[in-house]
Amino acid sequence: MTKKSDYMISRRGFVGGIVGLIGAIMSTVIGLPVVGYVVSPALKKGGREEWLTLAPASAAEPGVPTPFTFSRMKEVGWRRVRINRTVYAITNDGENVTVFSDACTHLSCKVHWDAERNAFVCPCHNGVFDKEGNVVSGPPPRPLDRFEAKIENDQLMILVEG
Ligand code: FES
Repeated sequence: MTKKSDYMISRRGFVGGIVGLIGAIMSTVIGLPVVGYVVSPALKKGGREEWLTLAPASAAEPGVPTPFTFSRMKEVGWRRVRINRTVYAITNDGENVTVFSDACTHLSCKVHWDAERNAFVCPCHNGVFDKEGNVVSGPPPRPLDRFEAKIENDQLMILVEG
């Protein structure tokens, strides 16, 4: 059997509980937007895409992977950093083009085109890719990544994330 006094709380305890509840609600209302503001840049995935002009398409030797470099500013979390990249473009007709990333799909070392071997070669663990970017040998788990690319008004362009 319970006594009436088991359910009673003091006035001081009641006021303390109400103040604590109001404090918790205010902290949540004020704190969540602040946490969102601080954390969201790290969770953003860029989102914006834009076409970047690399060079005149005529600069690419027909049928041969040709390196092009570019440099651009990119938002990484809270910072804006300069990104320097090299890509390899192959065009046979000056109208259609395939553009490969130079990042090896194993551990992201930079591949280079070896004309004698007719292959992209990764110096880190001897990964080898053919002219289509397919893995020939070594540890890379998948073909070289490709950029969406086009030739417009003789300009070689790739789609990059902002
Ligand atoms: S990073 Fe290219 S083979 Fe390992």
